[in-house]
Amino acid sequence: MIRKICCIGAGYVGTPTMAVIALKCPNVDITVVDSNKSRIDAWNSSNSYDFPVKEPGLDDIIKEVRNKNLFFSSNIDKHIDESEMIFLAVNTPTKKEGEGKGFAADLTNIDKCAKQIARISSSNKIIVEKSTLPVRTAERLKEIINKHRKNDVNFEIISNPEFLAEGTAIRDLFKSDRVLIGSDQTKVGLAAMESLVNIYKKWIPEERIIKMNIWSSELSKLASNAMLAQRISSINSLSAITEKTEAKINELSLAIGKDHRIGDKFLNVSPGFGGSCFKKDILNLVYICRQYGLEEVAEYWHQVVKINDYQRKRIFNIVKSSLVELKNKKISILGWSFKKDTNDTRESSAIPISSDLIINGASLKIYDPLVEKKQIIQDLTTYLESKNLNPKEIKSFLGQVKIQSTLSECLSNSNAIIVLTEWDEFTQVDWQNNRLNTNNINLPYIFDTRNILDIQLLKSLGYEVFQIGNGDNTIK
Ligand code: NAD
Ligand code: UGA
Repeated sequence: MIRKICCIGAGYVGTPTMAVIALKCPNVDITVVDSNKSRIDAWNSSNSYDFPVKEPGLDDIIKEVRNKNLFFSSNIDKHIDESEMIFLAVNTPTKKEGEGKGFAADLTNIDKCAKQIARISSSNKIIVEKSTLPVRTAERLKEIINKHRKNDVNFEIISNPEFLAEGTAIRDLFKSDRVLIGSDQTKVGLAAMESLVNIYKKWIPEERIIKMNIWSSELSKLASNAMLAQRISSINSLSAITEKTEAKINELSLAIGKDHRIGDKFLNVSPGFGGSCFKKDILNLVYICRQYGLEEVAEYWHQVVKINDYQRKRIFNIVKSSLVELKNKKISILGWSFKKDTNDTRESSAIPISSDLIINGASLKIYDPLVEKKQIIQDLTTYLESKNLNPKEIKSFLGQVKIQSTLSECLSNSNAIIVLTEWDEFTQVDWQNNRLNTNNINLPYIFDTRNILDIQLLKSLGYEVFQIGNGDNTIK
């Protein structure tokens, strides 16, 4: 029975996952370590407002288990050495340079962990791949470990990819559809797998714990994300057709989703999927396909990302052509996070769409219930830098942006309102009252890229409204 766990990486995956294991396995001591000391300090804060990741339900669990059997520490070496099982939950972004640049996963963090574990460990360890990794990473880890380990220490690597979604992390961890565990099909490999099964068995029904070979487990994670994203690109691509044909995308989603062979999940149109993983994991899959000479397969998956970029550009163009001229237009941006109920903005469609609006002369007022002002400015700056703009130009563009702390401030006095994140708060706007408060002679155009607003009500109040893929309600 495992008694001591170390998790490297105190991010969106590491902390919620370890918090739930700590809650369900009170006899296991878990320490989450991270090279980012300020992140560890924030998790140790007495004020949950300081926690770096906001997830419904997470604060309560941390309050219950922290400093009982869940600990946060910057002393990585110590906790590696003391543990029996080590989870790798470090980030694996897309490579920015070198072989595979722009596609392959950057495994620098993973390699560093493997080296550190091998160098430090004085007792046997089970290493659990929790990060999303290219298929056959375990082979690479073995090579690194064998090069750096002490002679009498044994390591077993198993794969246990994470399927939680942000905003519902705790719910997903409590009631996982499935837990995948992949191992070498050797006696020691299977024993390592069983020790992790015993942990999950504390709250996950055994039939949902799926055991498989390690390569299937690694590849299943990339494949699952690719197929989820593929559904979004499929429905978003169809939204372009419904707009041309007076069909309605919501009706299409309903019709398609009622076929139980297809299912009704992940058929919501949007300004394109965001989040830290879909794009990077598909690009990684594309790279892997190319490595194996599977060009047609690579191109098939690449198209999912290309359609996502197309959807973002399409929305920008719709706003631009509806307003005729963007220069000096005041536009309210509702929502910055990549989906509701999270403060995560990584790859959010709000970033390229808003940047294109300011580059084309619009002034923006931006409101998000959870994302901090400095994060929004950072996101815009990074995006504008990627367009090779110089610091002076970036400063001037940022001068066109105001971050609002309330929704009503954001809504007042603008030429257009664009809903980019599906926050519940946006569905509760008193549009009648907002109509009275507006100083404009003309009511603002409303672009609802999440199809969450009551379009009939808005139209009855005199607003011109665009909803994605809603063929007969598009602004003419
Ligand atoms: P994150 O950036 O929030 O957290 C990763 C943490 O690892 C950071 O705090 C970083 O400082 C730390 N770290 C990196 N290298 C380190 C090292 N060598 N030593 C110590 N600490 C180190 O990332 P995340 O969103 O939690 O994602 C982690 C992995 O899980 C990725 O592979 C991702 O694809 C995968 N994943 C993410 C999600 C999600 O919803 N975010 C869901 C499933 C899987
Ligand atoms: C996604 C997967 O759902 C998780 O299973 C996976 O573990 C995780 O990626 C990961 O590997 O990181 P996440 O990115 O947190 O989770 O959030 P999703 O709910 O999948 O949403 C991703 C993006 O797709 C969001 O921008 C969302 O608005 C968009 N989306 C989602 C749509 O545009 N339409 C939909 O129907 C569903």
